[in-house]
Amino acid sequence: MTDKSDQQGDGITLCALCDVSEETGKVIQLSDHPVAEVVLIRRGDQVFGYRNVCPHAGRSLSWGPDQLLFTPAGHLVCTAHGATFDVRQGLCLSGPCLGASLTRLNVTVVDQQVRLLPDAPEPEMPFIDPRYQN
Ligand code: FES
Repeated sequence: MTDKSDQQGDGITLCALCDVSEETGKVIQLSDHPVAEVVLIRRGDQVFGYRNVCPHAGRSLSWGPDQLLFTPAGHLVCTAHGATFDVRQGLCLSGPCLGASLTRLNVTVVDQQVRLLPDAPEPEMPFIDPRYQN
């Protein structure tokens, strides 16, 4: 559970950007919030947020309370059965839920603080991994 969140009408501060490791990511538990747990993945100054729920069997993606696993190529690995996900779009690239997606959250960085905004992000161009085209 985070004690750094401040409920505001325009979202919730999850943590400082410097608290999100590029190597291990971060998991934030939210009390009294429908999201419950947020997975944060950092790439440079960008942070991507997803619900901590795998689309395969609904298990937690994380390893332990605050660590995510990544492939050498930087894809997120679900620790339950090994599905891998593109970190920018949340699309499953391999494993038992191939083609399914994580639930992306509207996470942004403002003044070096990672914030969860209430509205869903605008849909982006769908990511289609070239390995699965044709
Ligand atoms: S629950 Fe994630 S791969 Fe099975």
